[in-house]
Amino acid sequence: MDTLTAVLSLEEHLLELRHHIHQNPELGWQEQETQALILRELEELGIPCETVCGTGVIATLEGGQPGPVVGLRADMDALPIQEKLDAPYRSRKDGVKHACGHDCHVAMLLTAARVLTGCRDQLHGTVKFIFQPAEEIIEGAHAMAQLPQMEGIDRIFGLHVWNDLDVGTFSVEVGPRLACADNIYLTIRGKSAHGAQPHNGVDAIVAACAVVEQLQTAVSRKVDPLEPVVVTIGTIHGGTASNIIADEVQLSGTVRCFNKDLRADLPRILEDLAVTTAQAHGATCGFKYAPCAPPVINETSSTAIAQKAVTDLFGADKLVHLEKTMGGEDFSWFLEKIPGCYIFVGARNEAAGKCWPHHHACFDVDERSLVNGTALLVKLALGDGKE
Ligand code: NI
Repeated sequence: MDTLTAVLSLEEHLLELRHHIHQNPELGWQEQETQALILRELEELGIPCETVCGTGVIATLEGGQPGPVVGLRADMDALPIQEKLDAPYRSRKDGVKHACGHDCHVAMLLTAARVLTGCRDQLHGTVKFIFQPAEEIIEGAHAMAQLPQMEGIDRIFGLHVWNDLDVGTFSVEVGPRLACADNIYLTIRGKSAHGAQPHNGVDAIVAACAVVEQLQTAVSRKVDPLEPVVVTIGTIHGGTASNIIADEVQLSGTVRCFNKDLRADLPRILEDLAVTTAQAHGATCGFKYAPCAPPVINETSSTAIAQKAVTDLFGADKLVHLEKTMGGEDFSWFLEKIPGCYIFVGARNEAAGKCWPHHHACFDVDERSLVNGTALLVKLALGDGKE
């Protein structure tokens, strides 16, 4: 049986899994029920597995033939969003929804495990099924990438159902695909005074406003204009009353870029700008740069393998170009250690209304994307040219 036929024969089970997980979404590090479901499925298949990092799972399927160790990763967590999707499988949990498609990822990886168990004799090498918690809060992959179980994996693949791509198409492209996602935290300190006598104090709000403006010059004046960078200040809190000069303002923001050298320079550039600008206003600035996830950069040979897998399964015309995104994805922590490729699987179907953006209350996918993604995972595990 070829890969696509094998997956199609399990389509009902695949969709049942997806619907069950969609109905029972769990936030990062709280994926206990999802973990239990994964363990039940894997135990039924007889694939040795273990729980890791609290709610994560790693399972290892050894093939009948010698060959490489391939890692396949699915993220598991949902988002704190109230479900507005009108479907029988809508979320049953108030304020929590799979609005990014990680429910699909778990269902696909479990179904790929089922297909591969059925053709274990033809499997060259070993497959590690990596079920990762807490992607949405950019914490899970960092924890899992440090595990000794990651040693010896030759290649790793991850995929994401993607509503910017039509169902049936795939983006498998070498180089930077998603940006780093780092955080900055600033505390501007001035000196309190009566609001009617600002000259007796140091206004932390005025200093903070100047800092917010100056930070934007990092992007426009300190960085090569050919290098995309985003510096966003997302929160600003300060002051206690309309007639008091504020003595403290707290700011937080996110920093995005693709270039690793530039990423190494940005903490210094941003801190210099913030500290000297605050000083110019007589204030001080505490600055903390918190690296969260590196950029996702697809490795050349793994990308070629994944492109061939798509071509073999669906035809070369199904490989399409998708512009890289400033969004982040913690799969990068695995790519820091293991050569690999991150794949976007088209899930958009405008005619069927499956075109809401990711992280939207109405988010859903064209479920043919699950069959496509599962077949691709199976193919990547089986390796080049083997059915
Ligand atoms: Ni996602």
